[in-house]
Amino acid sequence: MTDRWAIVVHGGAGRLRRTDPERVRAGVRKAMETGKSILVQGGHALDACEAAVQVLEDLPLFNAGTGSVLTLDGRCEMDASIMRGSTLEMGAVAAVRDLRHPISLARAVMEQSDHVLLSGEGAMQFARMLGFASYDPVTEERRRQWEKLREKLRQGAYPRWAKKLKQLLKEHPELFHGTVGCVALDRHGEIVAGTSTGGIFLKLFGRIGDTPIPGAGTYATPVGGASATGIGEGIMRVLLAYRVVEAMDRGATAQEAAHQAVRTLRDLVGLEAGVIAVDRQGRVGFEHFSESMPVAYATYEHPEGEARLASETRLLPEEADPSLM
Ligand code: GLY
Repeated sequence: MTDRWAIVVHGGAGRLRRTDPERVRAGVRKAMETGKSILVQGGHALDACEAAVQVLEDLPLFNAGTGSVLTLDGRCEMDASIMRGSTLEMGAVAAVRDLRHPISLARAVMEQSDHVLLSGEGAMQFARMLGFASYDPVTEERRRQWEKLREKLRQGAYPRWAKKLKQLLKEHPELFHGTVGCVALDRHGEIVAGTSTGGIFLKLFGRIGDTPIPGAGTYATPVGGASATGIGEGIMRVLLAYRVVEAMDRGATAQEAAHQAVRTLRDLVGLEAGVIAVDRQGRVGFEHFSESMPVAYATYEHPEGEARLASETRLLPEEADPSLM
């Protein structure tokens, strides 16, 4: 066992709701501290990552677990994944409902099934078989938002899906502030990445985003791990998390890798996104192409850690070529 450990968590790329930046900062710090306490004591990165993501899933501020956004037909369909770098084992769930901690079901898929990804009814059957309790993650606030947005749609404000999405983003920038994730390196050298989300607001029923897709929302190998956030339709098309880990494999630090990969995403697809990363040297990195992305991190070299609402080098959407947006 070494002294080296690191953890970074994110609370989603997007724009902060006007009212709650300090609660958001406190939320990501709490998640980071929860995972950190496991790592410092020599615990496993899997436990640290799962525990940190569970904290974020329990906070209605974030779009994962309790407080997840709703689909067009008013349901909560959540995605989550977790990946273990040393073995490339991965577990993921897509479009799951009535569950408190989708990240724990993702871990169960990895550890207790021969599969990587279970979805919908099958995933829920697996959950009940393992004794996961039924839990309603829909909050009153999300229900009210959904009703408001549905009414706008009914009035025909956004006839085509992509345009509607852009318009909704402009009018309700907080909607895409979601998804949570964690990447942890433990003192045994194991790197684990995990991500959990309610997806994007008013998504079509059955829509699956980047979060449960290996290499898109989550990826980890022995050299590093990454967890992505933002609009999944862009993240999936560039395999954002894989790009970050691949850059670390070619010698980039976690920060260089995160920055390069998000810049590529910005230039190729221009949809808001962000990523956090840890490399095997115990360095953390984070970058986003969005106004904000709350993160909290700590490492063996900086154990007291820090919680921030944005990275110093964030690639703001305004910097992108408008023709790519
Ligand atoms: N990144 C979350 C999603 O698009 O579902």
